[in-house]
Amino acid sequence: MSSNWNDPFFMANWQKENAKKTKHSLGGASLSLWSLQSILDLAGPQEKQAWHDQKMQYTSIQGGEELRGLISQQYKDLSAENIVIFSGAQEALTCIYLALLDNTSRVIGLTPSYAPMTFAAQKTGAEFIEFPLTNIKNKWSLDFLSLNEKINKNLDMLIVNFPHNPTGFIPSLTDWQETLKIAEVAGTWVVCDEVFKGLEFNKQNVIPPVCDLLPMGVSVGSLSKAYGCPSTRIGWVATHSTDLISKVLNIKRYLSICPSRFDEAIAKIMIRNKEQVLDQNKSFIKNRYEYAKSKIKMDLSNWIDMNQISAGIVLFPSLKLNTSAHDFCKNFLAETGYRLEPGLCFGANHTQNFRLGLGGANLEQGLDVLESYFKGYTP
Ligand SMILES: Cc1ncc(COP(=O)(O)O)c(C=O)c1O
Repeated sequence: MSSNWNDPFFMANWQKENAKKTKHSLGGASLSLWSLQSILDLAGPQEKQAWHDQKMQYTSIQGGEELRGLISQQYKDLSAENIVIFSGAQEALTCIYLALLDNTSRVIGLTPSYAPMTFAAQKTGAEFIEFPLTNIKNKWSLDFLSLNEKINKNLDMLIVNFPHNPTGFIPSLTDWQETLKIAEVAGTWVVCDEVFKGLEFNKQNVIPPVCDLLPMGVSVGSLSKAYGCPSTRIGWVATHSTDLISKVLNIKRYLSICPSRFDEAIAKIMIRNKEQVLDQNKSFIKNRYEYAKSKIKMDLSNWIDMNQISAGIVLFPSLKLNTSAHDFCKNFLAETGYRLEPGLCFGANHTQNFRLGLGGANLEQGLDVLESYFKGYTP
């Protein structure tokens, strides 16, 4: 399978077309636990004062050294010099692709996927080859051996995302290392979108960031997902390659230029209190997951098959009905005002799946509405 697998704007269009009908989002991939006040409550007296004394000026193009230093501590052998701050992970991904790819490049990308992660690479004109996760009865796995068939010496980049959106999948450490061995032999860049890193439910599920395992490994992080702070628009690239750092900086000059001072201040507070923030987010999501699991098992299993997740904020269940998830989600939204995200948002093959978000305000109520809807459903 190569070239375009889907309409790049399927998800954007789905959300845009249905914005007015949506009273509640039941398919989102973020959690809404934090307010500005609750973050400032974590700050020490100096940080609180600094928040009020902010100068209304540009910051450094690479991002403030203090924030980059704090971020670099998450990685082995990296320092502030190895980090660039972007306006969210999406700008980071786009700058990496623009820096390393063009219309002569070949890229292999994991699917299903958060579409902008893979489509931004295709936008450079690069040939795009799918690396599909294997799905057997809604149990997802990584067939790393299939990479051997797709890779050849001309491969420029492998793009993956672990913990994975929308399946919540994380490969075993052995499978991850085998995947990277194949990439290393091919001499390719490996970009791993790690925005959900920190939301692994068990320690044994945690795999190291790609930049710690491979000289050509590029880790992309963000405050949007694991930290639950998408409003701050802080994302980053972590890499050993100083050449890549200077290339992405040159592209960023034409985009956001530099991070917002306010966003950086919030990011520093969040990252200094990383353990508390991530523990709080994780325990919230784990409780939600346990609730959704038992609700689906007890009351919804006639109509949907659920997937088990190792991390993250979303489920990717499949419908047992004789209708596509797209039609189902459309009708469910029209009748109830609850919006799920159909599997087509994540790739052309996922016609029976839909994304169910665990982080929103209305999960319990939404699952009850889904149950009533199924009970009255006539195809
Ligand atoms: C896998 C993945 N990467 C990146 C992003 C975008 O992250 P950011 O808000 O940091 O740009 C998302 C948003 O949903 C995502 O799911």
